[in-house]
Amino acid sequence: MFNGKQILLVISGSIAAYKALELARLLRKAGATVHAVLTAGGARFVTREALAGITGQRVHDDLWAAEAEIGHIRLARLPDAVVVAPASADLLARMAHGLADDLASTVLLATRAPVLVAPAMNPAMWNHPATRANLAMLRSRGVAVVGPGVGAMAEPESGPGRLSEPEEILAAVVALLAPAGLPLAGRHAVVTSGPTHEPIDPVRYIANRSSGKQGHAIAGALAALGARVTLVSGPVVQPDPVGVTLVRVETARQMLAACEAALPADIAVMAAAVADWRVAHEAGQKLKKQPGAAAPTLEMALNPDILATVSRHAQRPRLVVGFAAETEAVVQHAVDKRARKGCDWIVANDVSGDVMGGDANAVHLVTSRGVEDWPRMPKADVAARLAQRIAEELA
Ligand code: C5P
Repeated sequence: MFNGKQILLVISGSIAAYKALELARLLRKAGATVHAVLTAGGARFVTREALAGITGQRVHDDLWAAEAEIGHIRLARLPDAVVVAPASADLLARMAHGLADDLASTVLLATRAPVLVAPAMNPAMWNHPATRANLAMLRSRGVAVVGPGVGAMAEPESGPGRLSEPEEILAAVVALLAPAGLPLAGRHAVVTSGPTHEPIDPVRYIANRSSGKQGHAIAGALAALGARVTLVSGPVVQPDPVGVTLVRVETARQMLAACEAALPADIAVMAAAVADWRVAHEAGQKLKKQPGAAAPTLEMALNPDILATVSRHAQRPRLVVGFAAETEAVVQHAVDKRARKGCDWIVANDVSGDVMGGDANAVHLVTSRGVEDWPRMPKADVAARLAQRIAEELA
């Protein structure tokens, strides 16, 4: 993925700096040469030795030593991208104001490479007007930002400020390095895929049949056109698509929460086979089969409709695409469904044959302009053609 790419990883002071080691490992595994720069704060949390071991490169942490070894200008010019993870409130402030008082800030001021920052700090620091203004300034200069996430912090407190997970930062680096000419560069797409599992008890569940092949292929196809993709997937055995942020979920309610957390987005493609119902009362213990006793009756509850919710969301993506798997009157059902769910397009397929789990698909694309019948083709080709159509629509 990153073959031949040079990435400069700047690590500043945060308890989350340990995640930078995993990020460095992932970047290297993806083919990049990783050069690490530690700030004085960063060096309090990860060691030069650990970083040198993982990157296989000399680690830089001192402006004057680096001057003798490589020179800060060369260090700034060498990379194809600079990733600051974790980016502390202090380093973001120094970047915003153009300070150059240590190696990291000097290199960040001297570089011409695209820069991605992954902030990590206490929620109060993140919400402070100074940090807000610094972030806005950096964004206006074209600095890309990933995260922070919301959740539990090292201190017994929670809120925005958690460093994004290494896989998520990796996906943002992929988007950062995507050639600017790609049609979906700068766009964010949320894709659902796979089934949902709705638990009956700790060992049993109900689910829809879905391999996740089509949804995963769409996520990959959108990423290949330069989009930043968040793939929210139920349990599947598909390989993870390259360059995509994967959020694994089990239930419909988790899938909805993950989709809403991923907004704002420009594009939503809801290809998951979401269970319409869940078991109303999930048993805490395995239901026991009693000799002679009648089979249990399951009371069901309605699941949220993720597609309809996203279609009517305050942060509705510009283009919302749903799927319709039908066994009869395929197009008519799809036309009705488009209106009912409030989405822009429906990709309808006849699942009466061998589509489920198979490699090929024959679909109809239902839009406000009418119905297109696409010939039967491999699911990867359906994905590529749909991604292309999406790019044209947003152009
Ligand atoms: O209503 P039906 O399940 O046939 O609609 C299919 C479309 O709606 C698909 O895009 C599917 O991902 C989406 N859907 C959803 N949430 C549900 C049910 C379906 O997002 N609870």
